[in-house]
Amino acid sequence: MMDKKEFRKQGHIFVDWMADYLDSVEKLPVKSSIKPGEIYNILNESPPEKGEEMDNIFADFKEKIIPGITHWQSPNFFAYFPANSSPASLLAEMLTATLGVQGMIWETSPAAAELEEKTMNWLKQMIGLPKGFEGVIQDTASTATLTAILTAREKKSEFSINKKGFGNESYRIYCSTETHSSIEKAVKIAGFGKQNLVKVRTDGQFRMDSPELEKAIQHDISMGKIPLCIVATLGTTGSTAIDPLKKIAEISSKYNIWLHVDAAFAGTALILDEFKWMIEGIEKADSFVFNPHKWMFTNFDCSAYFIKDKQALINTFAINPEYLRTQTQGQVNDYRDWGIQLGRRFRALKLWFVIRSFGVHGLQEKIRGHISLAKWLEGEINKSTSFEMLTPRTLNLICFRYKPLGVESLDELNTINERVLHEVNQTGKVFITHTKLNGAYSLRMVIGQTNVEKTHVEKAWKLVGEVASSL
Ligand SMILES: Cc1ncc(COP(=O)(O)O)c(C=O)c1O
Repeated sequence: MMDKKEFRKQGHIFVDWMADYLDSVEKLPVKSSIKPGEIYNILNESPPEKGEEMDNIFADFKEKIIPGITHWQSPNFFAYFPANSSPASLLAEMLTATLGVQGMIWETSPAAAELEEKTMNWLKQMIGLPKGFEGVIQDTASTATLTAILTAREKKSEFSINKKGFGNESYRIYCSTETHSSIEKAVKIAGFGKQNLVKVRTDGQFRMDSPELEKAIQHDISMGKIPLCIVATLGTTGSTAIDPLKKIAEISSKYNIWLHVDAAFAGTALILDEFKWMIEGIEKADSFVFNPHKWMFTNFDCSAYFIKDKQALINTFAINPEYLRTQTQGQVNDYRDWGIQLGRRFRALKLWFVIRSFGVHGLQEKIRGHISLAKWLEGEINKSTSFEMLTPRTLNLICFRYKPLGVESLDELNTINERVLHEVNQTGKVFITHTKLNGAYSLRMVIGQTNVEKTHVEKAWKLVGEVASSL
């Protein structure tokens, strides 16, 4: 094992490398062009018998691993939704790893539990959630949504499914056709069967059609089924459409259905007063999730999950083996009972560092900056004669396509745009992804990377134009 002297020496070298990487990451090809198996095949077949020098291991990291990295922290990364980091978050992650805390219960590190409670309360204030909600950090939005659906199931069944398993009930869960795939995954895991997930159609702007939702619920009730949970999305993955929460919340409370709000990406925009309209109706919701690890500059993973009925959550997940019994039980938050995992990382530390280092104003400024860059790009696309927006921009995601004069066929346009995407990404200068909107292949650019500036967006736009016209 490395001794402490060597650790100190290597630590300095590593931090220098990290700072250099962040300084130069925008010059690297954003998307790795490695072929399947290429990295696997250059790595040793068997583990070393004897410990190796850190210099050798680090040299291999730079030589063999880095070429297979897609650089999410490059300001030329416009793909998916970002998984942002920031210097304060990185430093906190180093401390987290150093402390090596496993925060399953309050006693395994009181500061970890209490800082989690505090940072969740800070976030609640920042995004404008009503007082009744309580927060807990989950690894991902997928886990948070599964947690919500399981809690809804237990509350509705008076905790009998946890005890006896399913009877003959036929529970139904509702979302829109644009909802993230993690909802379907949660429905499958929770044992409902994916045929009991009702995907409600959307309106012209890909938002859940609330009258259709109500019709589906009424139909199910008339068939003897039990509406259990509605998942509303603020910021769909395809196009950041914002489901009409207020109307959906009226329906959920009219029929006494659990309302879960998935704001995985867009939730960060709630720190801006001008976007608080998105959560109108939230007081009627039961649970809410958003990911600081997407757009709030906090290293993956960190998902903020809020729930109104904390006791229902705890009753769903509580376990109490002898070795975890403590004298403080009941007076403190033992987060092992607030979700699926027993062992938990100390994620609150990086969040605390990020919020303090940026300050709320600093975060607001960054988010506003991203949205205004997206607005600029939308303007350019609207001015252009050979590109068009495929749906209006809501935040910082642009869905658009190349539409050369005279080409009208959907299939032809789809093929051309798929080629544009491929060729643009091949340059290594930017990384953008795609979606399909009403069957139309859409180029999809998210302007939300921590360090993105106007020059990066301008260069990306110019590159897309050049590649498209050269086809
Ligand atoms: C709207 C939405 N919900 C949920 C998720 C899943 O997020 P996670 O990777 O944290 O599970 C995503 C991922 O992009 C998303 O866009």
